[in-house]
Amino acid sequence: TPFSACIVAAGSGTRAGRSLPKQFERVAGKPLLRWSVEAFASHPLCREIIIAVAEGHIEMARQALEGLDVILVEGGASRTRSVKACIEKASQPLVFIHDAARPGLSPALIDRLLHALEDTSGAAPALPVADALARETEAGVEAVSRDGLMRVQTPQAFHLAALSWAFDEARGADYPDEISLVRAAELQVKLVEGDETVFKVTYPDDFARAETQLGGPSG
Ligand code: CTP
Ligand code: MG
Repeated sequence: TPFSACIVAAGSGTRAGRSLPKQFERVAGKPLLRWSVEAFASHPLCREIIIAVAEGHIEMARQALEGLDVILVEGGASRTRSVKACIEKASQPLVFIHDAARPGLSPALIDRLLHALEDTSGAAPALPVADALARETEAGVEAVSRDGLMRVQTPQAFHLAALSWAFDEARGADYPDEISLVRAAELQVKLVEGDETVFKVTYPDDFARAETQLGGPSG
């Protein structure tokens, strides 16, 4: 089944501490955003790529994506709003939502998510938690079991009708990701095996890690 790829690239990248928003910084020879766009563009079932960009960054995005066939939309004040701006333009029965800040997207991960959508409304890649967990409150420190806890990544894939319905139910509330939004609407989701390579560039040190991964052995 064909899909629309939606990439959210309208953030300011504050934690990354670079002069440009991280999605436009060059990593292994390309703007970070371009890695994900090319990964989707080379998938045979991807019919369109819709990218949310902040109003002031449209020209920078055009330059970063020169030669690629994409639809640019204006992002919102929150990640959830940027996603909404993208899916309003989506035309295919399935939709992928992906962070521009995750350049290491593989065709195998796209295929795992497509497969999962055969019998659920939404699917996301997830990996187990390695560190021990604790919750710090005013009452003190409380140990938290990591049994069953997973780190959820993007891309997250949905039947467009289900995701649109969940957005209506959310009535403008923000969620950390679309799996949370769809679960809040009590639709069914599945987790598939995640991929450390699709980690999110968030902090300054993450650029070096991305450079190594994307640049390959010589990187
Ligand atoms: N994003 C977006 N619109 C927003 C906020 C975030 O499209 N209003 C996008 C970012 O561009 C990024 C993804 O959502 O690709 C994940 O968000 P995050 O890693 O938090 O990126 P930023 O919000 O840009 O970074 P920071 O929180 O450090 O400012
Ligand atoms: Mg953010």
